[in-house]
Amino acid sequence: MGSHFWQMGLYFWVCFSAISFIHSVNSQGFGGGSIEGTVHVNGKDAIGKIDDDFICATLDWWPPEKCDYGTCSWVRASFLNLNLSSIILLNAVKAFSPLKLRLGGTLQDKVLYATPDNKQRCVPFQKSTTEMFGFTPGCLPMNRWDELNSFFQKSGAKIIFGLNALTGRTIHSNGTATGAWDYKNSESFIRYSVKKNYTVHGWELGNELCGHGIGTTIGASQYVSDTASLQKIIHDVYKGIEPKPLILSPGGFFDAKWFKDYTDKTTTSLDVVTHHIYNLGPGVDQHLIEKILDPSYLDGIASTFSNLRDILKSSATSAAAWVGEAGGAYNSGRHLVSNSFVFSFWYLDQLAMSAAYDTKTYCRQTLIGGNYGLLNTTTYEPNPDYYSALLWHRLMGRNVLATSFSGPKKIRAYAHCAKQSVSLFMPQL
Ligand SMILES: *[C@@H]1O[C@H](CO)[C@@H](O)[C@H](O)[C@H]1NC(C)=O
Ligand SMILES: *[C@@H]1O[C@H](CO)[C@@H](O)[C@H](O)[C@H]1NC(C)=O
Ligand SMILES: *[C@@H]1O[C@H](CO)[C@@H](O)[C@H](O)[C@H]1NC(C)=O
Ligand SMILES: *[C@@H]1O[C@H](CO)[C@@H](O)[C@H](O)[C@H]1NC(C)=O
Repeated sequence: MGSHFWQMGLYFWVCFSAISFIHSVNSQGFGGGSIEGTVHVNGKDAIGKIDDDFICATLDWWPPEKCDYGTCSWVRASFLNLNLSSIILLNAVKAFSPLKLRLGGTLQDKVLYATPDNKQRCVPFQKSTTEMFGFTPGCLPMNRWDELNSFFQKSGAKIIFGLNALTGRTIHSNGTATGAWDYKNSESFIRYSVKKNYTVHGWELGNELCGHGIGTTIGASQYVSDTASLQKIIHDVYKGIEPKPLILSPGGFFDAKWFKDYTDKTTTSLDVVTHHIYNLGPGVDQHLIEKILDPSYLDGIASTFSNLRDILKSSATSAAAWVGEAGGAYNSGRHLVSNSFVFSFWYLDQLAMSAAYDTKTYCRQTLIGGNYGLLNTTTYEPNPDYYSALLWHRLMGRNVLATSFSGPKKIRAYAHCAKQSVSLFMPQL
């Protein structure tokens, strides 16, 4: 272990604190003299173990007409109309080999899959102020699904697809949705995908319908039986095919009681518990940068990670925790903040903090789309956080080490064992 200890995250410490250091200098003014601190890394045991492909990014359904406070930031970044011929896009995804991509978002629970046996008309989303989420139901044509899969195969992406979990339910005016999930269309879509040999890494059930929900909410016990239905479908449709795709859920905001009830009763059906993070508030907030650069503000979300970890530890479930969607600032982020350099202080801290609480995968909202894309929505060129993600992917190994830092609060330190070999950076000792 001795020499490995030195190979490990010391490198990351150097790399990460270098980023933080710039921030410290800025906040004290240049020429403010040197600052000192001490990092302590416990290299004996891992406190968490991330997936090899921990880095994940999302693609959303939002059509160009999606606007927030008069700003329309989605353009053609929905996976329904993204330019899949773009070489920049292809290379950006390929650089990770693999990048996990989670397809989903608010409108996923209003989507029809136009499979061959479907009799309903396939119509696009249309803006409508009277509809839940501001749009009429939309549709995924199978030729588009075919094109997407050809892109995923070429780019080596690992796909997590979010299924429509509202079909068949009654939505009440008090904000609840009752009744069982009608899975016919989803089952047909999964069958279509298997018949076409499309590799889907995981199927996720629903988006932000748990706990308090956004729009409508489903009780935990109903969700338990719907998750069992999904498991049965996966077993049937993937008969004789290994490995089977993962089952993920509920893809919503953490709510201790709901998540405990749910994970306690899905011990044999659920592989991954997914939750969403928008801890910076709405994108319209003019004080986002102050929050991003405030260490105690950033620490506020740590209790969510630790509470979820403790729930999973104390439950019989073997499900792992993922952040299934995290854009920091909701309502599409904020231009010149969530797509600029300063956002890496939030993003890198999130990646490392979540890993320290045993999160296995972290999906950034978005790969492209809104004002929080890793890629620019119109040019597809990388934003600063794209390189933060890539740097993490190349350097950070699976084992997370307990790390503490004493010194200025605005410097953070996190350490992992190095990914594969760190000989690129340091000689083997
Ligand atoms: C898509 O990208 C390709 C390659 O960059 C380009 O030639 C084409 O014009 C683009 N299509 C649209 C609709 O922008
Ligand atoms: C909401 O309304 C439905 C239908 O009336 C009812 O069954 C349900 O219990 C209500 N839920 C809450 C939380 O009030
Ligand atoms: C899927 O894979 C199987 C086995 O490799 C092959 O026989 C079949 O033709 C493939 N189907 C399609 C649609 O590519
Ligand atoms: C995308 O890039 C263009 C050209 O550099 C720039 O004008 C635009 O503000 C960028 N958009 C976003 C959302 O970052």
